[in-house]
Parts: sequence; structure tokens; C-alpha cells
Amino acid sequence: MVMADAPKSVRVRAPGKINVFLKVGAVMDDGYHDLATAYQAVSLYEDVRATLSDDFTVSFSGSIDCTGLAVDDSNLAIRAARLVAKKAGYRGGVHLDIEKNVPIAGGMGGGSADAAAALVACDALWGTELGREELLGLAAKLGADVPFALTGGTAIGTGRGDQLSPALAKGSFQWVLVLADFGSSTPDVYHELDLHRDRHVQDIFPIHTQPSVDTNVLQALRSGDSHMLAEALSNDLQAPALHLNPSLTQVLEVGEANGALAGIVSGSGPTMAFLAADLDSALELQIALSAARYRVVRVTGPVHGARIIAD
Ligand code: C5P
Repeated sequence: MVMADAPKSVRVRAPGKINVFLKVGAVMDDGYHDLATAYQAVSLYEDVRATLSDDFTVSFSGSIDCTGLAVDDSNLAIRAARLVAKKAGYRGGVHLDIEKNVPIAGGMGGGSADAAAALVACDALWGTELGREELLGLAAKLGADVPFALTGGTAIGTGRGDQLSPALAKGSFQWVLVLADFGSSTPDVYHELDLHRDRHVQDIFPIHTQPSVDTNVLQALRSGDSHMLAEALSNDLQAPALHLNPSLTQVLEVGEANGALAGIVSGSGPTMAFLAADLDSALELQIALSAARYRVVRVTGPVHGARIIAD
């Protein structure tokens, strides 16, 4: 049932993310890896417009080529909408029009942002008023990064990455992203890490049973100091991502040779994120990387999580 004052359409904006720290622990019973990560939401957004419908459908527009993306019930945003309907006992449907700007399979949580936006949009469109906690519970069912796309800002994720606690953060960080012209499968990158660890089990320290975020990362985020954060950037998925996609190593070199404080693979890649000291350095880096014929986007973080915006 739709509430009498429910809107005919709702538009929600949700951000992509960078993991400024990602430590991968052991494989858990559910097949996921235990991890400790520091997320930062950045100003590259997915905009989802939800419109009342009898059915559940999705369409795409935006700066990203969406050819080949699933539009059936396997689509994460449709799954999100169906979860809200089921939880609230809502019997109608929704059409989701997704304006995509976060790269697909790029390691920035674009699909997760779509799902988070769909949760918020359907809840408002249908007047189901599930509330934040309930939506966070549904988000965790959809994927490890979906709860963070809901909350945004800066947060620490543990477990699968879905158990969030807020992190104190000050100021704004300047990033330059290099988008790849190919995608990367997250399970493949985790698998590559497992293979590497199996091969070198004699030579490397035992994998932490309970990984945690380094204190210098928390301190850098708390102080808003980009130099300190550059020193602390770390991602256990970087080595396997570079191993699977060796061309990314050159991207790292070009970024760091052109004034980036540091570069890091975003999540499981292949998007590369370069941290700049300030806006001027970020602009210079953006120009240099564009001149080197990379696809470049400049963003800042942290930014807010999924929320309704005016049409
Ligand atoms: O939850 P999500 O669909 O984003 O995860 C994609 C895949 O990434 C999982 O199926 C799993 O292979 C891998 N993953 C993992 N451990 C995590 C998060 C993701 O192994 N903590």
C-alpha cells in the first residue's frame, strides 16, 4: 500500500568509495575474508531515480558505458528494491533509472552505491519508513560494501567489511582517480591473494585472525593531514590486483612521478587512486595524467552517504 502523501518519484545520490586501508585476514566459514578497512566516500556519485511501477525494472544512463549490465532480478539495485518490498510487505513495484558515474567492476563500490540508493529511494517512494537500522540490515545482506554506501563519510569496516563504526575525520582530501578501460572481478582478486598466501605460507607471517586498522591511518584521518595519510595508505588487495593486471604498475609510476603523494589500488581495482597534497597539486596531476592519455577524474572525500536529493 502506498501512503496517500507518498511522492511519485524520488531521486537518491550515493557515493563511490576508496579503501584508504584494507587488511585481509583469514577466510571465514561463510567463504568471505575477515577484514579491517578504512573507507572514505568520495565525490563520484550514482544518482538513482525511483518511480512507481507495477513491476521491478531498471535502466541506465550517465558517463559510464553500461552495455551488458544485468537488468533482470540479478541486478543488485533490483534486489535491494525487492528486499525493501518484502520487509515492508509492499505489493507494488518500482522503476529504477540509474545515472552511473562510478566505474563498473572498478573497485569503488559502484554497484553497492546503486543498491544503497535503491534502498533509500524505495523506502521513501513507498512510504515504508523502515528506518536507518533496518535499511543497514538489508544493506549487509546485499554485499559487504553496501552498508558503507548508505552511511558514507569515513568509517571503519570489520567482518566482511559490513560491520561499521564511525571514524573521526577532519578536512577534505584531494584525490585523482585513473579509471581503467576494463573491469576486475573482486572474487578473482581475493582468490589471487589466497593463492599467493598458499604458495608462500612458509615465508610469510601467519595471517592475523583478527585484522585491525593501523593507528597511524586513524590519526591521519583524524588530523586531516594528507601527507600523513599518504604514508599510511595500504591495501592487501593491491599486490594481487597488480599481479592480475600488470599494466596498472605503470599507472602507479606515472602518478607518483607527477606529484602524487602516493597512489593506491582502490579496493580490488582496477581504479587507481592518487592522493594529492592540495587542490593545486591535484589539478596539476589531473592534467599530467590526462596528457598521458589516461581516463582521469578528480574527486574529494569524505562526502555524505546515500540521501535524497531534489529533482
Ligand atoms: O559482498 P560482495 O558481493 O561485495 O563480495 C564480492 C566477493 O568478494 C565475495 O563473493 C568474495 O569472493 C569476496 N570478498 C571476500 N571477503 C570480503 C569481501 C568480499 O572474500 N570481506
